[in-house]
Order: sequence, then C-alpha cells, then structure tokens
Amino acid sequence: VRAMQAHLDAYAAAAARRAQEVTQVVGAALVDDRQRVLVAQRGSGPLAGLWEFPGGKVEPGEPEVAALVRECREELGVGITPRAFLGEVPLDGVVAGGVPGASTLRLWWGRITAGELVAHEHSELRWLGPEELEDLDWIPADRPLLPAVRALLVDR
Ligand code: CDP
Repeated sequence: VRAMQAHLDAYAAAAARRAQEVTQVVGAALVDDRQRVLVAQRGSGPLAGLWEFPGGKVEPGEPEVAALVRECREELGVGITPRAFLGEVPLDGVVAGGVPGASTLRLWWGRITAGELVAHEHSELRWLGPEELEDLDWIPADRPLLPAVRALLVDR
C-alpha cells in the first residue's frame, strides 16, 4: 500500500508541475451597445498583420478573469467587465512549450466599462459587426471562435 501511495504522490506531483507549465491564453470579445465587437491587428512578431481578439498569457497562479482584465488594461488602456465565457480552442503548442493541445485560448465576452481605447500594442483597432468578421485575416487560433462571437452579436 505504501508503495502504491508513493506512486500516486509522484503522479500527482508530476500532474501539478505540468499544469503549472502550461501557458493558458485568454481573449476578450468586447462588445459595444451597437452590437459590434472589437478586433485588433497584431503589430509585431511572427503574427504581425493578423487580426485577433485582444488578450494574452495567463500568469502562473493568476485567475483567468484577472488576466483578461490586466491584458485589456495593458493593451487597450481600458477597464473591462467580463460577462461570460464564450468558448475555447487548442493552441498549436508553441505557446505551451511545444506540447500540442496542452495550451488553450479561452475567449470571454465583456464590455468596456472605463477609459478610452488606445492601441498600445496593436497596429490597428476596429469595431466590426457580425457580417464583417469572417473576411479579416485572422490568427488561425481565433477563427474557430467566430461563430460563437457572431451568434452573440446577432442574438442581442
Ligand atoms: O501579451 P502576452 O505576451 O501575454 O501574450 P500575446 O503575445 O498577446 O499572446 C501570446 C500568444 O497567444 C500569441 O503568440 C498567440 O500565439 C496566442 N494568441 C492567440 O492565438 N489569439 C489571441 N487572441 C491572443 C493570443
């Protein structure tokens, strides 16, 4: 029994280590009162020129929603209120240190509740309606989330 317990402890420790190593990414679908969503064009790095929902990496031990609020403050200069989880997609493994599927992009919708938008890190920001989303040159990870965002904009 003791040997088995040691085994289980080692397994649990390894699982906890793995969970800490995995980088989660959060994104914000910020909706205005005209049923438009904010989209942002990446200004630098390998994904420069592609469009995304603003967001970024969750820090170790940081609650996901806190990361969402922090990233929107850093990148856009605004305070946001997250409203609801919309969906998630696996990332390609580059973000997670090469472990395919270990990392996910989790998208929330929310509202800007303070401040004025400034593109601190993006080359451009745009407010788009549901019919305009598909035509953008999206980061591959974000594209599968478009139907959920579209449904959100159309339903409201
Ligand atoms: O700001 P931070 O460095 O935390 O993160 P980031 O560079 O904005 O995002 C980290 C990575 O997550 C990017 O390199 C993308 O691979 C991915 N990402 C994504 O796929 N879709 C988004 N909407 C945001 C980030």
